[in-house]
Amino acid sequence: MGRVRAQKKALALQLSRAGFPAAREEIRDMFGAAWGDPAILHCWASRRRDGEPLEWLIGFTVFMGHRVCVDRGVYVPRPQTELIARRAIEALPAGGAAADLCTGSGAIAVALRNGRPDARVVATDVDPNACRCAAKNDVEVYQGHLAEPLPAELIGQIDVVVAVVPYVPTDQIVFLPRDVRNYEPRAAFDGGVNGIALLEQAVSASTRLLHSGGSLLLELGGSQDEQLAPALQAAGFDVVERLVDDEGDLRGLHARIASSNLPR
Ligand SMILES: C[S@@+](CC[C@H](N)C(=O)[O-])C[C@H]1O[C@@H](n2cnc3c(N)ncnc32)[C@H](O)[C@@H]1O
Repeated sequence: MGRVRAQKKALALQLSRAGFPAAREEIRDMFGAAWGDPAILHCWASRRRDGEPLEWLIGFTVFMGHRVCVDRGVYVPRPQTELIARRAIEALPAGGAAADLCTGSGAIAVALRNGRPDARVVATDVDPNACRCAAKNDVEVYQGHLAEPLPAELIGQIDVVVAVVPYVPTDQIVFLPRDVRNYEPRAAFDGGVNGIALLEQAVSASTRLLHSGGSLLLELGGSQDEQLAPALQAAGFDVVERLVDDEGDLRGLHARIASSNLPR
């Protein structure tokens, strides 16, 4: 066996013994991103064993088939979010406009842009590190709270708002995988008590952005759809569909605004 193959096999075995089920695939991805440099590969494998996200080491992930740069310190896009992104693309007409609030690396915005090349896609994030990363992914990104930093010309002009806000209830964070808790930025997932404060704010922010008939796609879980129902109703939204995964777990909500009860 060649030296390189032997090193890859040994590192994959170490990762596998450390509890990483996709160890071989991860070492293969690291090997490619490290241009086959054995010293880099060795260093990354050791950091991965400590729990650092693979995407931070190799610098990217693949989201809905698109390569998306993910800088260290930026939330790693999750496969379950593809459900929301797919629905957002379906709801976005050609030549329309979409806003991705809390964009992180910009993965959803990248998917929207690729799914509807004629549309204008804008994004926001409060974290400057995330905004830099989204900009590297060619996303038109604005730094600030929810919809606040978006250009005024977009008010009432947006067809689709998508938002993956931090929505994990603070008392549930202890149940997240240890590596997520140790490495990923807490501000990216800690949603406070019940996890719905920012979801409610995203609903209210969307009423300013969307024209009537526009769609709001939110990622959420548990019984947060019920907790959010009063805010949606008060803002003039009808729930089109609860989005569930293959296990039947709630992953998101598609709502459509008929009219806004809030001042624009
Ligand atoms: C769960 S991550 C989602 C990132 C991305 N949409 C994705 O699915 O990969 C939440 C993101 O919201 C950002 N964020 C937190 N509070 C925010 C706020 N008040 N306004 C805008 N962005 C915020 C965080 O910096 C983080 O990047």
